[in-house]
Amino acid sequence: MSTMKAMRIHEYGGIDALKQEEIAKPQPAADEVLVKVQAASVNPVDWKISEGFGEGWLGYTLPHTLGCDVAGVVEAVGRATQKLHIGAAVFGYTNLAHEGTYAEYVLAKESEVTTKPAALDFIHAAAVPVSSLTAWQALFDIAGLAAGQKVLIHAAAGGVGSMAVQLAKVRGAVVIGTASARNADFVKGLGADEVIDYTTTRFEDAVQEVDVVFDLIGGDTQQRSYAVLKQGGILVSAVQPPDEAACKAARVRGEMVGVQPNASQLEEIKALIEAGKVNVSVEKVLPLDDAKQALTLSKQGRTRGKIVLTVA
Ligand SMILES: NC(=O)c1ccc[n+]([C@@H]2O[C@H](COP(=O)([O-])OP(=O)(O)OC[C@H]3O[C@@H](n4cnc5c(N)ncnc54)[C@H](OP(=O)(O)O)[C@@H]3O)[C@@H](O)[C@H]2O)c1
Repeated sequence: MSTMKAMRIHEYGGIDALKQEEIAKPQPAADEVLVKVQAASVNPVDWKISEGFGEGWLGYTLPHTLGCDVAGVVEAVGRATQKLHIGAAVFGYTNLAHEGTYAEYVLAKESEVTTKPAALDFIHAAAVPVSSLTAWQALFDIAGLAAGQKVLIHAAAGGVGSMAVQLAKVRGAVVIGTASARNADFVKGLGADEVIDYTTTRFEDAVQEVDVVFDLIGGDTQQRSYAVLKQGGILVSAVQPPDEAACKAARVRGEMVGVQPNASQLEEIKALIEAGKVNVSVEKVLPLDDAKQALTLSKQGRTRGKIVLTVA
């Protein structure tokens, strides 16, 4: 039996519970492809899952291999697959409920992965799927962001925020991002019209009458965000369900985004990357063996762009 290296948890013990193991190399079902992983990016959900986030609703049993962003090469295809062929360089977000991408191989459906942007190496391609799909689905599918509208993006320097700033600019919106001073030039460079240093300025003193708030922080930041929305505006949160009473009082809408794999949207994002309209920022690259260190860094909440693990 051939085996592969995988980073797994057997219990919800946090990052320290992660173990490097040798497990059976998976075989694709009829509608799956087997991807030889070259790079896997780190998302906060990875360390959250190690702590028990999603226990019950994600529908998997332990042990579980962490990771959901991948870039790699198709090594085998199921008999019912139609688009991807052996040898194709692909990237994508594999469903959180499946075995993850912190491994030498991962299974994926053609609805989850597609050919990677030619302009990007595997490291940068792996940084794209979850962050850009979350931003796309929040801003476009849920908020219906339109040209000329004003959007406030919290945590604009992080993985999702850095994609959200660029996608909102592509859409023709006026973009205000929050970040600490050390990231102000970075967020401006992504195209933001204004950057608010949340460590020295209360954002509600600096911005008003926005059409859309994209909340990547929750808590007090979310609570203070209702007041900056126009009547009829919308707050979309990726971290915490909006407060119904606060939405009602401010006459705004509140929605949660739960990112879904979507290879067609990744094709649209790929076109923007290839046209030079969206750039990918990777702050740190570490080998898969250092996954614990990568997760610890992610948990500190200071990542600029993305952290990526290399597997090959
Ligand atoms: N629901 C979903 O489907 C979904 C999908 C993706 C992500 N998420 C969640 O969304 C959140 C963001 O994800 P991510 O990948 O973008 O995280 P990330 O890359 O780890 O975000 C780090 C960034 O947050 C900024 N930051 C920290 N505290 C801040 C504050 N109070 N105000 C403004 N910026 C602040 C930091 O900038 P400074 O260093 O300048 O402070 C840093 O650049 C996570 O909780 C993640 O789990 C949810």
